[in-house]
Amino acid sequence: MSFTQIKHPLIIDKLTRMRRIETSSKDFRENLNEIAQLMVYEIFRDVPLEAVEIETPVQKTVGYTINQPIVLVPILRAGIGMLDGIQTMIPTARIAHIGLYRDEETLEIHQYFAKTTKDIAESYTIIVDPMLATGGSAIKAIDIAKGWGAKNIKFVCLVSVPEGVAKLQKAHPDVEIYSASMDEKLNERGYIVPGLGDAGDRIFGTK
Ligand code: PRP
Ligand code: URA
Repeated sequence: MSFTQIKHPLIIDKLTRMRRIETSSKDFRENLNEIAQLMVYEIFRDVPLEAVEIETPVQKTVGYTINQPIVLVPILRAGIGMLDGIQTMIPTARIAHIGLYRDEETLEIHQYFAKTTKDIAESYTIIVDPMLATGGSAIKAIDIAKGWGAKNIKFVCLVSVPEGVAKLQKAHPDVEIYSASMDEKLNERGYIVPGLGDAGDRIFGTK
C-alpha cells in the first residue's frame, strides 16, 4: 500500500512550468518527459540486479546488470507523454498499451484499446499516466494488466489527489504508487485542483 512522493527541486520547478496556463504544448511535453526521466531514478531503486562475469580492459571482474524484463504501460492518451523520458533511461523496455477515456459528465471509464507484450507475467510492469484524479482510470488499467498476468506492478503519475490515491490503494493494495505531487482535491467536474488542466489536451494541443 505504498505511496511515494518523489520530491526534488528540479521536478518541482518543471511541474510549476507545466501548471502555468500560458505554457505551450511543446514546453508542456518537454517538461513532462524530463520529469518522467528524473522519476525513473527513484522508481527503479529496487529493481533486482544479477551478477555477471565481465572482462574490463584491465582484468576479469563481476558486474551487475538488470536482467528482469521491464514493461512500460502508458494509459492512452496522456501516458504517452511520459514514455520518451522513461525509455531514454531504459531503452530495452517493451511497451504495452491501454486506451481509456473518462466520460466528461459521469466520469465513468471507457476502454477502447489494450495490447500486451508477450512476457508481461515475468516482468517488472510500470503503468504510467500523468493524472491520478478519481482513480478510476488507474484502477481499470491495473485490472487489465493483472488480467494479462502482470504481478509486479507500479503505478507512476505526475499529479495525484488524496481521494484518488486512497481509492487506488483500496482496489490494488499490492501496487506501489509514485507521484511527483499530491495536490489538494478534486473539483465538482473531477479535475485536480490546482492541477494542470486536461493533460491529454495540453500534450496533444487538442483544445
Ligand atoms: C485523463 C488522464 C487519466 C484520467 C485520470 O485521461 O490522463 O487517464 O483522466 O482521471 P481519473 O483518475 O478520474 O480516471 P482522459 O480520460 O481525459 O483521456 P485522455 O488521456 O485521452 O485525454
Ligand atoms: N484528467 C486530467 O487530465 N486532468 C485532471 O485534472 C483530471 C483528470
